[in-house]
Amino acid sequence: MQSLELNKAFAALLTAGITFMVAGQLGKVLVHGERPHEAAIKLGEEAGGATAAPAAGPTGPTVEPIAGLLANADVAAGQSVAQKQCGSCHTFNDGGKSGVGPNLYGVVGAPHGHLEGFNYSAALKGKEGPWNYDELNHWLAKPSAYAPGTRMAFAGLSNTKQRADVIAYLRSISPKAPPLPAAEEAAPAK
Ligand code: HEC
Repeated sequence: MQSLELNKAFAALLTAGITFMVAGQLGKVLVHGERPHEAAIKLGEEAGGATAAPAAGPTGPTVEPIAGLLANADVAAGQSVAQKQCGSCHTFNDGGKSGVGPNLYGVVGAPHGHLEGFNYSAALKGKEGPWNYDELNHWLAKPSAYAPGTRMAFAGLSNTKQRADVIAYLRSISPKAPPLPAAEEAAPAK
């Protein structure tokens, strides 16, 4: 009787041991012991030149100028982009109601934070001067880079042609918009 119990116990131990070994071997086979040579996600790289080379213009040198594109920009295409991408927060008609963002009628050539009574962030209010084409270009490329702390929760329009079209559209609804920049001013010597 007793030896039977002992046998059982021994068998149990043996089974456990074998299972342990097999599991270990299997684990080695299934999971690569080596670390990958490169991290799958590279931190900090996404910010691109912004972190690497700060400060050449309002948001760094990475925003492609649009002045050359503005003259031939497509206002209707810009309006359609604006309605799709900005319309959830902005209205564009004269006297239109503000939503999450301010009404944008007349914004080009107007000061930052152009609408009386809208609760702008200090980040945006603190910007000097009027909205000109270059400022708008940087702003719309990446609002959070142009005015860190802004309340405009919009990632940005990375497509340069789209930015030009949208800005041309904003210009078309801004009676006080300044004249378009000459193409040579568009690409200042770097
Ligand atoms: C999620 C909502 C949201 C979206 C989408 C959005 N905006 Fe805004 N926008 C805001 C807010 C909020 C502000 C005020 C920002 C602040 O005070 O920091 C603002 C401010 C602005 C201003 C400055 C207005 C002024 O009076 O100085 C412009 C210009 C502007 N947005 C253009 C656009 C355009 C063009 C798009 C689409 C490409 C867009 N926004 C998409 C919410 C939005």
